[in-house]
Amino acid sequence: MPTPTQQKALFLLEKQGQFAVCDRDVPIPKRGELLIRNESVGLNPVDWKIQQWGMFLDNYPAIIGAEGAGTIEAVGEGVTDLKKGDRVFYRAVWAVNDRAAYQQYTLADPTSVTKLPEGISFDGAATLPTALASATTGLYSHPGGGQYVPPWAEGGKGKYAGQPLVVIGGASVVGSVAIQFGKLSGFSPIVTTASLKNTALLQSYGATHVLDRNLSADALREEVKKIIGGYPSFVFDAVSLPETQAAGHGLLAPGGRLLVILPQSVEATEGRTVTFSMSNVNLQRDPQFGVDLSKVIPVLLESNEIRPLKVDIVPGGLAGIVSGVEKLRNNQVSGAKLVAHPQETA
Ligand SMILES: NC(=O)c1ccc[n+]([C@@H]2O[C@H](COP(=O)([O-])OP(=O)(O)OC[C@H]3O[C@@H](n4cnc5c(N)ncnc54)[C@H](OP(=O)(O)O)[C@@H]3O)[C@@H](O)[C@H]2O)c1
Repeated sequence: MPTPTQQKALFLLEKQGQFAVCDRDVPIPKRGELLIRNESVGLNPVDWKIQQWGMFLDNYPAIIGAEGAGTIEAVGEGVTDLKKGDRVFYRAVWAVNDRAAYQQYTLADPTSVTKLPEGISFDGAATLPTALASATTGLYSHPGGGQYVPPWAEGGKGKYAGQPLVVIGGASVVGSVAIQFGKLSGFSPIVTTASLKNTALLQSYGATHVLDRNLSADALREEVKKIIGGYPSFVFDAVSLPETQAAGHGLLAPGGRLLVILPQSVEATEGRTVTFSMSNVNLQRDPQFGVDLSKVIPVLLESNEIRPLKVDIVPGGLAGIVSGVEKLRNNQVSGAKLVAHPQETA
């Protein structure tokens, strides 16, 4: 079938405005670019923050959407390692309309695209790109983060056997991927906080201890001390709200490091550090890390060492994203990733 010239896209019409599905041209890939037909796109908390707070974007109407999965529809000149028909998943660029995910066809740079192994669905794949980037840069690459040896580097797999890892908010998408990588790195115990209904799910990802997210900071500190026999030198806060940052900082041994993924809201004391990591900025700083990650991810998915997350489909194609974004804003998503199907747009 020839590539259509028109497509549906979900536009944020103006700063702090409303979303609406409109028609737009299907972009044509230039040299070094790919065109992807989006089958599944992942929703993110940043979507409602962009809408409500007007952050990050200057040009409207804007298309957002940070990640997706689908098939390559066309390749620009000079692209050699990917071809039409390949199944892929990718990190999108939501500040550039042609490259954002909430539309039926998206342009992408090959370095942000990974081939999808057989057996991994588009829905499953769409749960991963943002979380993979955020969890792995926080654990392995970001200065002030874990800076552990990644499991794909020589000697990295299982290297941290017997060392504890604490992930605050293990049922968040980022936390669920951080736990899986923690397991691959050999950490034990892996302690996390969540709603206790998510215990079995987080254990299936590799958590050894799931603590109630409603514990007070003092009670959490006591529980963690009991489990690991002391205080951790590193904590990954995969929620990073002011209360979780304070609790995470409170867990640290003197001189320990807290990695947060929202702007820092806690002041570090006693030689501890608190570092805010933005995965896309970090991948620009350390592009080789992104290249290595893209190479190894299909292998880890194929071997089932890293698994896609639980999917919650928002019905209604691109239009359904609007209610999905509302659910994220209202904290109504638990232990799952919201995914939409752009091709089902009426
Ligand atoms: N800096 C970056 O590069 C970057 C990248 C991605 C995301 N983020 C940000 O990181 C945050 C997480 O993103 P996400 O997509 O992973 O979120 P998400 O999956 O939508 O987060 C929902 C989950 O957070 C958990 N949660 C909420 N409050 C909690 C608390 N006080 N203690 C423990 N768990 C809590 C809930 O767990 P239960 O259901 O078990 O209660 C729920 O399952 C968002 O603010 C997002 O904007 C930043």
